[in-house]
Amino acid sequence: MKKFLYTIAMGAALLGGCTSASNSGDAEMDRFINDLMSKMSVEDKIGQLNLHSYAGFRSAEKVNTDDENVKQLMAGQMGGMYGISNVNVLRELQDLALQTKNGIPLIFGLDIIHGHETVFPIPLAMSTSWNMPMLEKVARTAAVEASATGINWVYSPMVDIARDARWGRIAEGNGEDPYLGGEIAKAYVLGYQGHDAVYDSTEVMTCVKHYALYGAAEAGRDYNTVNLGRQEIMNGFMRPYAEAAKVGAASFMSSFNEFEGIPASSNKYLLTDLLRDTYGFKGFVVSDATAVIEEVAHGIGDLQEVSARSLQAGLDMDMNSDGFVGTLKKSLDEGRITEADIDKACRRILEAKYKLGLFQDPYKYLNPDRAAKEVFTAESRAFARQVAQECQVLLKNNGVLPLKKNARIAVVGPLADNASEMSGTWSMSSHADENVTILQGIKDAVSNPNNVSYAEGSWFLNDAQLESDLKYGLIGLFMPDFKPAPVHTTPKATLMAEAVAKARQADVIVACVGENAMMNGEGASRADISIPDAQVELLKALKATGKPIVLVLNTGRPLTLNWEDENMDAILNTWSQGSEAGHAIADVLFGDVNPSAKLTTSFPRAVGQLPLYYNHKNTGRPHGDYEKYVKFRSNYIDVVNAPLYPFGYGLSYTTFEYSDVQLSAAEVANGGNFTATVTVKNTGNMDGKEIVQLYIHDVVSTSTRPVKELRGFQKVDIKAGETKTITFELSTEDLKYYNHELQYVCEPGDFEIMVGPNSRDVKTALLTVK
Ligand code: BGC
Repeated sequence: MKKFLYTIAMGAALLGGCTSASNSGDAEMDRFINDLMSKMSVEDKIGQLNLHSYAGFRSAEKVNTDDENVKQLMAGQMGGMYGISNVNVLRELQDLALQTKNGIPLIFGLDIIHGHETVFPIPLAMSTSWNMPMLEKVARTAAVEASATGINWVYSPMVDIARDARWGRIAEGNGEDPYLGGEIAKAYVLGYQGHDAVYDSTEVMTCVKHYALYGAAEAGRDYNTVNLGRQEIMNGFMRPYAEAAKVGAASFMSSFNEFEGIPASSNKYLLTDLLRDTYGFKGFVVSDATAVIEEVAHGIGDLQEVSARSLQAGLDMDMNSDGFVGTLKKSLDEGRITEADIDKACRRILEAKYKLGLFQDPYKYLNPDRAAKEVFTAESRAFARQVAQECQVLLKNNGVLPLKKNARIAVVGPLADNASEMSGTWSMSSHADENVTILQGIKDAVSNPNNVSYAEGSWFLNDAQLESDLKYGLIGLFMPDFKPAPVHTTPKATLMAEAVAKARQADVIVACVGENAMMNGEGASRADISIPDAQVELLKALKATGKPIVLVLNTGRPLTLNWEDENMDAILNTWSQGSEAGHAIADVLFGDVNPSAKLTTSFPRAVGQLPLYYNHKNTGRPHGDYEKYVKFRSNYIDVVNAPLYPFGYGLSYTTFEYSDVQLSAAEVANGGNFTATVTVKNTGNMDGKEIVQLYIHDVVSTSTRPVKELRGFQKVDIKAGETKTITFELSTEDLKYYNHELQYVCEPGDFEIMVGPNSRDVKTALLTVK
């Protein structure tokens, strides 16, 4: 009853002619939107909250007016569409939108997380570059290409912190560290949107995802429950979202998981208390695809109830569920929600359209001439090669690398001559067949291509049916009766015999193995994260030839590599490298480029160590990372606590020597500044880039804190024999954390300030905060 009276009161207040108040600070925009909304019926407003994909993606050539989603659009029941990047189709859809009663233009979204038609390495790979200006330029390049094909809204950056390599979507994010994740989030947002509030026609809206905590899915199983406390999320997970909001990200996408028993898409604490009230976010929030209707399966109500709850919690747009468009009017009539709730969401979406400039020019992004000229250019491909060179982590090298260009090389493995697999996950607009294969890259680099032999060597998996299912999984989603052709026709044994014979004739083997693109990404969790079985059998057969082996590892997640670490001569982790994969990999293999990337995720020794992350807490029974098993300590019987390769780790063809850490003073007043300085000497004979990392540890705090927390990094070029002085400018602001009461504080006392080439091998100085 109370609720009903409240609704009437609100309704009366609104009859005064004013729709939901705006605090945008832009009087002209407010006037325009007030005027527009005063002409809109409730149904019209709800229509703006509806978002759908359109079948066909890049392949659709024409709009089909029998399509259910297009019918909704023509009825004025659509605020935006996504999943299409054919500028002519998008123009047609925009024409239809403009012919509806209010003529409100559509926004057009697309999944673009590591480039559009020019594909860059997968995001996890790009994070290992630790190169913020370069990542900003990646986003800028993708924005130019996206806007040239009609897109004004990219579903990127994906900034979910992930500590569990079983989760396939670890590939889409930036690893396990919230500080680095925050810096990367900012770089992407600024790259896509530009540095000011105005969008030119080459700048697009970002959609930061997946809000929030999606990367903490229990046991790494996709879409699973998240079970974390508020203090832990504030210290370990939220920073990237917060930083993205602070630099003005235009929109956020709510995630599939629940937090504290409430699905994220109707979680007011996440969507309103934190995102808007704490981080100052001013844009709109769209649900992930079908996330609203999935709340029904979460068990918190039917579609009408979950739609009402989502709207009131702070969700503005419903992707694919038809929950808002299908039930909000009924909820309004029944007094379950108010018109102010609807107005608030509608206003946010109209504001986004206004800021994009679509009311002035609905065709601003729909210029077919640009699509022909500005996409997949020689220049953007050259940049993709340069980016990829900085995203390969050298995990092991006993001296076999760099390779000689006149060596006889056997290039083997199912990823060696596989163009389409180079694109990696979420690369729906890639020119997959035009990706440079590893074999091609090597042939282009050597003195005589006849010295390079090739053999496929193995299937991806021993289970050929599973391999087919993975390859054609997406088609199966839309066509349940689809029967995929068998992926393999040549028997495994034949492939392996051919590879071994070619290896015997060579000086060195380059084994290109690992995960294909469908083995990571969405809905691709793995309980066993080793190199797939068939390929390990190949590696073992190659090992038996006695020839040196360089393992070129394609993967979207950290893998367990104990046997490979012991038995391979070198391991170059290339992740999925994108359009220019083969060239960039050859650049590193032959030493034309010195590898410099460093891991942003810990590589476990065993899946049983997961979740595994460098910034863990101590226990009451701490145990040395490499110490062997001791009863009643916090450790394992069968594996040491340390990862195989720690966060921040990566080798170079040269070596770097670090000095001790010098602080500007041993004491600092709370609120004051200080510096930490090291010298780094390139002690080898090749020029190189080094990523110098700074960590802190609060020795005593009122609640427990991690053993190490990254608070700074610098990527520097150091010539062979040269010594560089690296200074970090810090303040006690950098020592803060969220205490038990969730206040962000620096607690006086001793702090260890650590600097080193990775999270394990650091040098320490002691700082006292007074
Ligand atoms: C994914 C999102 C993506 C959306 C739209 C969902 O399944 O979780 O990351 O942006 O689909 O394609």
